[in-house]
Amino acid sequence: MTRVMIVEDAEAAGEAAAELIQAALATRPEPVLGIATGSTPLTSWAALARRRLELGRVRAFALDEYLGLAPGHPQSYRAVVDREIVRPLGLDPERVQTPDAADPVHGPARYEEAIAAAGGIDLQLLGIGRNGHIGFNEPGSSLASATRVALLSEETRRDNARFFGSLDEVPTRCITQGIGTIRRARRLLLLAFGEHKATVVAAAVEGAVSASVPASAIQLHPDATVIVDEAAASGLVYSAYYRASWLETA
Ligand code: GLP
Repeated sequence: MTRVMIVEDAEAAGEAAAELIQAALATRPEPVLGIATGSTPLTSWAALARRRLELGRVRAFALDEYLGLAPGHPQSYRAVVDREIVRPLGLDPERVQTPDAADPVHGPARYEEAIAAAGGIDLQLLGIGRNGHIGFNEPGSSLASATRVALLSEETRRDNARFFGSLDEVPTRCITQGIGTIRRARRLLLLAFGEHKATVVAAAVEGAVSASVPASAIQLHPDATVIVDEAAASGLVYSAYYRASWLETA
Protein backbone atom coordinates (compact mmCIF):
# COMPACT_ATOMS: atom_id res chain seq x y z
CA MET A 1 0.00 0.00 0.00
CA THR A 2 1.06 3.60 -0.47
CA ARG A 3 1.33 5.77 2.64
CA VAL A 4 1.32 9.47 1.92
CA MET A 5 2.94 11.87 4.37
CA ILE A 6 2.30 15.56 3.82
CA VAL A 7 4.83 17.83 5.49
CA GLU A 8 5.43 21.55 5.58
CA ASP A 9 8.55 21.78 3.47
CA ALA A 10 11.56 19.99 2.01
CA GLU A 11 13.48 20.30 5.28
CA ALA A 12 10.78 18.47 7.24
CA ALA A 13 10.61 15.88 4.48
CA GLY A 14 14.38 15.35 4.72
CA GLU A 15 14.10 14.66 8.44
CA ALA A 16 11.22 12.23 7.95
CA ALA A 17 13.06 10.49 5.12
CA ALA A 18 16.25 10.21 7.19
CA GLU A 19 14.25 8.53 9.94
CA LEU A 20 12.83 5.95 7.52
CA ILE A 21 16.21 5.37 5.86
CA GLN A 22 17.92 4.88 9.24
CA ALA A 23 15.25 2.36 10.27
CA ALA A 24 15.61 0.45 6.99
CA LEU A 25 19.40 0.36 7.30
CA ALA A 26 19.09 -1.13 10.77
CA THR A 27 17.33 -4.26 9.48
CA ARG A 28 20.45 -6.05 8.17
CA PRO A 29 24.17 -6.10 9.04
CA GLU A 30 25.08 -5.16 5.47
CA PRO A 31 22.06 -3.19 4.32
CA VAL A 32 21.52 -2.04 0.77
CA LEU A 33 20.30 1.45 -0.03
CA GLY A 34 18.93 2.48 -3.41
CA ILE A 35 20.07 6.04 -4.03
CA ALA A 36 18.66 8.71 -6.29
CA THR A 37 20.24 11.84 -7.76
CA GLY A 38 18.42 15.10 -8.49
CA SER A 39 17.70 18.05 -6.24
CA THR A 40 14.81 16.41 -4.35
CA PRO A 41 16.81 13.99 -2.14
CA LEU A 42 19.34 16.66 -1.04
CA THR A 43 17.59 17.53 2.24
CA SER A 44 17.38 13.81 3.04
CA TRP A 45 21.13 13.36 2.55
CA ALA A 46 21.78 16.43 4.70
CA ALA A 47 19.48 15.18 7.46
CA LEU A 48 21.09 11.74 7.32
CA ALA A 49 24.60 13.27 7.46
CA ARG A 50 23.62 15.26 10.58
CA ARG A 51 22.87 11.97 12.32
CA ARG A 52 26.53 10.98 12.02
CA LEU A 53 25.71 7.30 11.57
CA GLU A 54 28.39 4.71 10.91
CA LEU A 55 27.50 3.81 7.32
CA GLY A 56 30.75 2.14 6.22
CA ARG A 57 29.04 -1.25 5.75
CA VAL A 58 26.14 0.07 3.70
CA ARG A 59 26.02 -0.98 0.07
CA ALA A 60 24.33 1.38 -2.35
CA PHE A 61 23.09 1.24 -5.92
CA ALA A 62 22.19 4.31 -7.94
CA LEU A 63 19.08 4.34 -10.09
CA ASP A 64 20.64 5.50 -13.31
CA GLU A 65 23.58 6.91 -15.26
CA TYR A 66 23.99 8.98 -18.41
CA LEU A 67 25.65 7.46 -21.46
CA GLY A 68 28.09 9.38 -23.61
CA LEU A 69 29.72 11.68 -21.06
CA ALA A 70 33.50 11.72 -20.72
CA PRO A 71 34.67 9.60 -17.75
CA GLY A 72 34.77 11.78 -14.63
CA HIS A 73 32.41 14.40 -16.16
CA PRO A 74 31.11 16.44 -13.19
CA GLN A 75 27.48 15.78 -14.24
CA SER A 76 27.92 12.04 -14.66
CA TYR A 77 25.80 10.46 -11.95
CA ARG A 78 28.92 8.66 -10.67
CA ALA A 79 30.48 12.06 -9.96
CA VAL A 80 27.22 13.46 -8.54
CA VAL A 81 26.78 10.43 -6.29
CA ASP A 82 30.36 10.71 -4.99
CA ARG A 83 30.03 14.46 -4.39
CA GLU A 84 26.50 14.67 -2.97
CA ILE A 85 26.01 11.31 -1.27
CA VAL A 86 29.15 9.20 -0.73
CA ARG A 87 31.36 11.89 0.81
CA PRO A 88 28.79 13.68 3.01
CA LEU A 89 27.45 10.39 4.37
CA GLY A 90 30.81 8.69 4.77
CA LEU A 91 29.88 5.74 2.54
CA ASP A 92 32.60 3.45 1.25
CA PRO A 93 32.93 4.37 -2.47
CA GLU A 94 33.85 0.76 -3.24
CA ARG A 95 30.44 -0.35 -1.98
CA VAL A 96 28.53 2.19 -4.03
CA GLN A 97 27.66 1.25 -7.59
CA THR A 98 26.32 3.25 -10.50
CA PRO A 99 25.40 1.60 -13.82
CA ASP A 100 28.53 1.08 -15.92
CA ALA A 101 28.40 3.66 -18.70
CA ALA A 102 31.54 2.14 -20.22
CA ASP A 103 29.70 -1.10 -21.00
CA PRO A 104 26.17 -0.47 -22.24
CA VAL A 105 26.01 -3.97 -23.75
CA HIS A 106 26.70 -6.11 -20.67
CA GLY A 107 26.52 -3.46 -17.94
CA PRO A 108 22.72 -3.52 -17.45
CA ALA A 109 22.48 -7.29 -16.86
CA ARG A 110 25.55 -7.19 -14.62
CA TYR A 111 23.91 -4.43 -12.60
CA GLU A 112 20.84 -6.58 -12.00
CA GLU A 113 23.12 -9.44 -10.93
CA ALA A 114 25.06 -7.21 -8.54
CA ILE A 115 21.84 -6.01 -6.87
CA ALA A 116 20.66 -9.59 -6.47
CA ALA A 117 24.07 -10.72 -5.16
CA ALA A 118 23.93 -7.99 -2.51
CA GLY A 119 20.64 -9.46 -1.31
CA GLY A 120 18.34 -6.95 -3.01
CA ILE A 121 17.67 -3.33 -2.14
CA ASP A 122 16.26 -2.68 1.33
CA LEU A 123 15.01 0.82 0.63
CA GLN A 124 14.92 2.62 -2.70
CA LEU A 125 14.73 6.39 -2.62
CA LEU A 126 12.94 7.94 -5.60
CA GLY A 127 12.40 11.39 -7.00
CA ILE A 128 9.87 11.97 -9.76
CA GLY A 129 10.27 13.77 -13.05
CA ARG A 130 7.60 16.24 -14.14
CA ASN A 131 6.50 13.71 -16.74
CA GLY A 132 6.20 10.97 -14.10
CA HIS A 133 9.53 9.26 -14.71
CA ILE A 134 11.30 7.36 -11.94
CA GLY A 135 14.99 6.70 -12.48
CA PHE A 136 15.08 7.42 -16.20
CA ASN A 137 12.02 5.29 -16.96
CA GLU A 138 10.20 7.65 -19.25
CA PRO A 139 6.47 7.47 -20.00
CA GLY A 140 5.82 4.34 -22.05
CA SER A 141 8.29 2.22 -20.06
CA SER A 142 7.02 -1.23 -19.13
CA LEU A 143 6.08 -1.64 -15.49
CA ALA A 144 8.07 -4.90 -15.57
CA SER A 145 11.20 -3.41 -17.20
CA ALA A 146 14.72 -4.41 -16.14
CA THR A 147 17.91 -2.35 -16.04
CA ARG A 148 18.59 -1.33 -19.61
CA VAL A 149 19.77 1.31 -22.02
CA ALA A 150 17.00 3.87 -22.57
CA LEU A 151 16.42 7.07 -24.46
CA LEU A 152 15.77 10.30 -22.56
CA SER A 153 12.64 12.22 -23.50
CA GLU A 154 13.01 15.75 -24.84
CA GLU A 155 11.16 17.02 -21.76
CA THR A 156 13.62 15.35 -19.39
CA ARG A 157 16.61 16.58 -21.39
CA ARG A 158 15.21 20.11 -21.19
CA ASP A 159 14.58 19.79 -17.43
CA ASN A 160 18.11 18.52 -16.87
CA ALA A 161 19.76 21.11 -19.13
CA ARG A 162 20.12 23.32 -16.03
CA PHE A 163 22.98 21.06 -14.93
CA PHE A 164 24.80 21.41 -18.27
CA GLY A 165 26.05 24.35 -20.31
CA SER A 166 23.35 23.92 -22.97
CA LEU A 167 20.64 21.51 -24.13
CA ASP A 168 23.03 20.09 -26.72
CA GLU A 169 25.37 18.92 -23.98
CA VAL A 170 22.67 16.84 -22.24
CA PRO A 171 23.11 13.18 -23.17
CA THR A 172 20.36 11.51 -25.17
CA ARG A 173 20.72 8.04 -23.66
CA CYS A 174 21.21 6.46 -20.28
CA ILE A 175 21.28 3.21 -18.36
CA THR A 176 18.45 3.03 -15.85
CA GLN A 177 17.17 0.51 -13.38
CA GLY A 178 13.87 -0.70 -14.76
CA ILE A 179 10.50 -0.25 -13.14
CA GLY A 180 10.51 -4.00 -12.44
CA THR A 181 13.90 -3.59 -10.74
CA ILE A 182 12.62 -0.71 -8.63
CA ARG A 183 9.54 -2.69 -7.65
CA ARG A 184 11.73 -5.49 -6.28
CA ALA A 185 13.17 -3.21 -3.57
CA ARG A 186 11.72 -4.11 -0.17
CA ARG A 187 10.60 -0.55 0.50
CA LEU A 188 10.09 2.46 -1.71
CA LEU A 189 10.33 6.05 -0.57
CA LEU A 190 9.27 8.64 -3.14
CA LEU A 191 9.80 12.33 -2.46
CA ALA A 192 8.43 15.34 -4.32
CA PHE A 193 8.39 19.04 -3.58
CA GLY A 194 6.92 22.12 -5.18
CA GLU A 195 3.84 23.10 -7.11
CA HIS A 196 5.40 22.02 -10.41
CA LYS A 197 5.19 18.39 -9.18
CA ALA A 198 1.57 18.59 -7.91
CA THR A 199 -0.11 17.28 -11.07
CA VAL A 200 2.25 14.38 -11.55
CA VAL A 201 2.15 13.43 -7.85
CA ALA A 202 -1.65 13.22 -8.01
CA ALA A 203 -1.42 11.11 -11.17
CA ALA A 204 1.16 8.78 -9.62
CA VAL A 205 -0.61 8.31 -6.29
CA GLU A 206 -4.29 8.49 -7.24
CA GLY A 207 -4.43 7.96 -11.00
CA ALA A 208 -4.52 4.76 -13.01
CA VAL A 209 -1.51 2.47 -12.79
CA SER A 210 -0.07 2.89 -16.23
CA ALA A 211 3.10 2.98 -18.30
CA SER A 212 2.07 6.55 -19.12
CA VAL A 213 2.97 7.53 -15.54
CA PRO A 214 5.91 5.31 -14.59
CA ALA A 215 5.78 6.46 -10.94
CA SER A 216 2.25 5.04 -10.65
CA ALA A 217 4.01 1.65 -10.29
CA ILE A 218 4.45 2.52 -6.60
CA GLN A 219 0.75 1.69 -6.19
CA LEU A 220 1.63 -1.95 -6.89
CA HIS A 221 4.24 -2.06 -4.14
CA PRO A 222 3.34 -3.50 -0.74
CA ASP A 223 5.51 -1.03 1.21
CA ALA A 224 5.72 2.38 -0.43
CA THR A 225 5.85 5.77 1.27
CA VAL A 226 5.40 9.09 -0.46
CA ILE A 227 6.59 12.23 1.33
CA VAL A 228 5.45 15.49 -0.22
CA ASP A 229 5.38 19.10 0.84
CA GLU A 230 2.11 21.02 0.91
CA ALA A 231 2.70 22.43 -2.59
CA ALA A 232 3.34 19.03 -4.19
CA ALA A 233 0.32 17.64 -2.30
CA SER A 234 -1.99 20.35 -3.59
CA GLY A 235 -3.42 18.18 -6.41
CA LEU A 236 -4.28 15.22 -4.19
CA VAL A 237 -7.99 14.53 -3.76
CA TYR A 238 -7.66 12.38 -0.65
CA SER A 239 -5.17 14.44 1.37
CA ALA A 240 -7.44 14.62 4.45
CA TYR A 241 -7.60 10.83 4.42
CA TYR A 242 -3.80 10.52 4.13
CA ARG A 243 -3.25 12.91 7.03
CA ALA A 244 -5.70 10.98 9.22
CA SER A 245 -4.24 7.61 8.20
CA TRP A 246 -0.72 8.74 8.96
CA LEU A 247 -1.70 9.88 12.47
CA GLU A 248 -3.50 6.56 12.96
CA THR A 249 -0.41 4.47 12.13
CA ALA A 250 2.33 6.76 13.52
C1 GLP B 1 16.39 13.09 -13.03
C2 GLP B 1 16.72 11.75 -12.38
C3 GLP B 1 15.57 11.24 -11.55
C4 GLP B 1 15.04 12.35 -10.68
C5 GLP B 1 14.46 13.45 -11.54
C6 GLP B 1 13.84 14.60 -10.75
O1 GLP B 1 15.96 13.00 -14.34
N1 GLP B 1 17.13 10.73 -13.29
O2 GLP B 1 16.01 10.13 -10.76
O3 GLP B 1 14.05 11.86 -9.81
O4 GLP B 1 15.49 13.95 -12.36
O5 GLP B 1 14.80 15.54 -10.42
P1 GLP B 1 14.63 16.64 -9.30
O6 GLP B 1 14.65 15.91 -7.99
O7 GLP B 1 15.84 17.52 -9.43
O8 GLP B 1 13.33 17.33 -9.54
